[in-house]
Amino acid sequence: MDLSASIGSLRLENPFLTASGTFGYGTDLDGVVDLSLLGGIVTKSVTLRPREGNPPPRICETPAGMLNSIGLENCGLETFASRKLPSLAALPTKVLVSVAGESADEYAAIVERLAYEDAVDGFEINVSCPNVKSGTSFGSDPRLAGSLAARLRRISRKPMIVKLTPSAPDIVEVAKACASEGADGAVVSNTFPGMVIDAKTRKPAVANVTGGLSGPAIRPLALCLLYRVHRSLPEFPLIGSGGICSVEDAAQFFMAGASAVQIGTANFFDPDLLNRLAGDLEEYLAEQGLADFRSLIGSVRLPV
Ligand SMILES: Cc1cc2nc3c(=O)[nH]c(=O)nc-3n(C[C@H](O)[C@H](O)[C@H](O)COP(=O)(O)O)c2cc1C
Repeated sequence: MDLSASIGSLRLENPFLTASGTFGYGTDLDGVVDLSLLGGIVTKSVTLRPREGNPPPRICETPAGMLNSIGLENCGLETFASRKLPSLAALPTKVLVSVAGESADEYAAIVERLAYEDAVDGFEINVSCPNVKSGTSFGSDPRLAGSLAARLRRISRKPMIVKLTPSAPDIVEVAKACASEGADGAVVSNTFPGMVIDAKTRKPAVANVTGGLSGPAIRPLALCLLYRVHRSLPEFPLIGSGGICSVEDAAQFFMAGASAVQIGTANFFDPDLLNRLAGDLEEYLAEQGLADFRSLIGSVRLPV
């Protein structure tokens, strides 16, 4: 069965990727996940300089989800390039490096440094982190997002996917700006802003006070956003992200218009899921009488 997927110039063996920040730098789950069964992995977001992230507690369980305020903790560009990248070159799957920055210059410096690295199959441009100051400003403003995409496009021809934020006043306009400036596709979307307060102590559950909500709780919200973007930009490849925990969840995103999906929070409670998804998709397609998963994309049956 043909499970291959395309996101602009990026070719994947199948439409299943890991979501940034939930799978380390790709090798952390060695022995747990068979990476050859995945379409690709997305690294933890990399910033120009190392970041310690926000103070703990940074994670809290919520009904059908989790709240996190990690705050982009990562080892920084140079350590990533010298210590992490060499082991990524040998992985039997595509590797997308998630790039985050506080200014266009920072994003540009990271893409420039990695543009000719063979281990890097493409970039995911994170303009949507809710847990850092100014983290969502690029993703909230179509003009800023478009000019960032245009600048990065001039630096590298490698596949470039922009990860959008649900906090944008109009996510469709941000997607349009990125598409028109040469992005290969977009991830819809990052976590939703959320908050939990301990009713006894009156303290917020995460020290950063607010965080990003992920997991099944946000699935219908992310699905709705992706559907809206796909309706306005049917030719622009989209990757679904938000609460996907099974092949049936993934199928909903394909039907709404996604060409691939990412698995995030589910990795924490079902680390074997990534080993099963490609096989589960084949079974699902057989049940549906389909030979090619791409026939699912945008196939939602709307009321007439
Ligand atoms: C602990 C944690 C850390 C995350 N770190 C990042 C990150 O560094 N960069 C990023 O773009 N998204 C990050 N995300 C967001 C996920 O990649 C994903 O888009 C989001 O959690 C929604 O998908 P899910 O419900 O399947 O987890 C993080 C999510 C979690 C739960």
